[in-house]
Amino acid sequence: MLKGSFELIGDKSISHRAIMFSSISKGKNKISNFLMGEDCLSTVNCFRKMGVDIEINNNEVYVTGKGLRGLNPLDNMDNLLLDVGNSGTTIRLMMGILAGQKFKTTIVGDESIGKRPMKRVTDPIRQMGAIITGKDDANLTPITIEGGNLTHIDYHMPVSSAQVKSSLILASLYGDDTSFIHEKVKSRNHTEIMLKSFGADIEVNDLNIKINPVEELFNKDIYVPGDISSAAFIMVGALITENSEVLIKNVGLNDTRVGIIEVIKKMNGNVEIVEEREICGEKVGNILVRYSPNLIGTTIDKDLIPRLIDEIPIIAVLATNAEGNTIIKDAAELKVKESNRIKSVVDNLNLIGAKAIELEDGMIIKGKTSLQGGRIQTFNDHRIAMAFSIANLISKNNVILDNDKCIDISFPGYFNLIKKLSK
Ligand code: S3P
Repeated sequence: MLKGSFELIGDKSISHRAIMFSSISKGKNKISNFLMGEDCLSTVNCFRKMGVDIEINNNEVYVTGKGLRGLNPLDNMDNLLLDVGNSGTTIRLMMGILAGQKFKTTIVGDESIGKRPMKRVTDPIRQMGAIITGKDDANLTPITIEGGNLTHIDYHMPVSSAQVKSSLILASLYGDDTSFIHEKVKSRNHTEIMLKSFGADIEVNDLNIKINPVEELFNKDIYVPGDISSAAFIMVGALITENSEVLIKNVGLNDTRVGIIEVIKKMNGNVEIVEEREICGEKVGNILVRYSPNLIGTTIDKDLIPRLIDEIPIIAVLATNAEGNTIIKDAAELKVKESNRIKSVVDNLNLIGAKAIELEDGMIIKGKTSLQGGRIQTFNDHRIAMAFSIANLISKNNVILDNDKCIDISFPGYFNLIKKLSK
């Protein structure tokens, strides 16, 4: 049983953006409730190597921005080396910024990053005039980028991706004229919200974004709301273990991120939002979640997918506890996350006694099954590790992870929190 209340750690997407946008703005600012996960620290390290003064004090970060065109490599002016570790958000967003800088950079990352497609960013940024080279025609790291004088772009995105959208918005700040970016399905919009508050000239009209280049951005203090993608693991833990009741305080509730709450409600789960408010343009609230013995399967597809893309592994665990089929489709993007999450979820679920079927663009989970446990492979994917640590709460025998260190990517202190809530 999970019982108690806690303040949620900062949102990963917003923490990355806070560092990046502060670094390319004028002035000094404070970022509060910053996520000290490994991914966000990769972003901090990259911007420090570009001459930005970033001071960390507990969960507060102080950034002295260099302005839009003021980044300045500390070493190797001829070809700066930046390591993004495991972070797809760091590499893709940063490429948009590097496209506007006059120095040359080579970006590397870990084994997982080395398999993730970057063409979705390199293609449109090349169209804007940056010179990009790398493995598989600059689809894979290491990728070298030489920026400078960019043109503008009118781009219809072939994939729904907040990372690609954000990268292009950032490159457009350096363009020679107005750029337009068109999404097929609405993805998370933290970039649009935060950049506007820094003085960027961005107009959003449903799926169409218009960006005018600007001379400078100006720093503002930022409060990072809690990460709903991290809260999701605790929410599911409480929904599936008898007598649980957990209050998660300070959760970011941006409309583009709350798909998990809609799905839990559709599945008959007991979840409530209390005390909703707005901070720094982002909705924030507390979430109360209770044990829910009568869960039912559901279908998750289309426009809902980008609004819960990172929550699918833990939703799949939830579905093993729901009566009937849960069908997840239109989610082929899962194949190019930190691991192939269709395969890593389906194979591991079947290994611990659930009934899951792999689809080309998703999966079907047949519930309700009683989980038996076993040794699963995380593929070094933090969300796979956490999803199966929650499965462990209801398994007959232990679910053993081959690696739990990867959880530090997005949720430092995860096991301590579970221990504190376990009664
Ligand atoms: C993110 C966007 C999503 C998400 C990732 C973080 C972001 O990826 O899966 O964890 O911060 O913009 P895509 O937009 O590429 O789908």
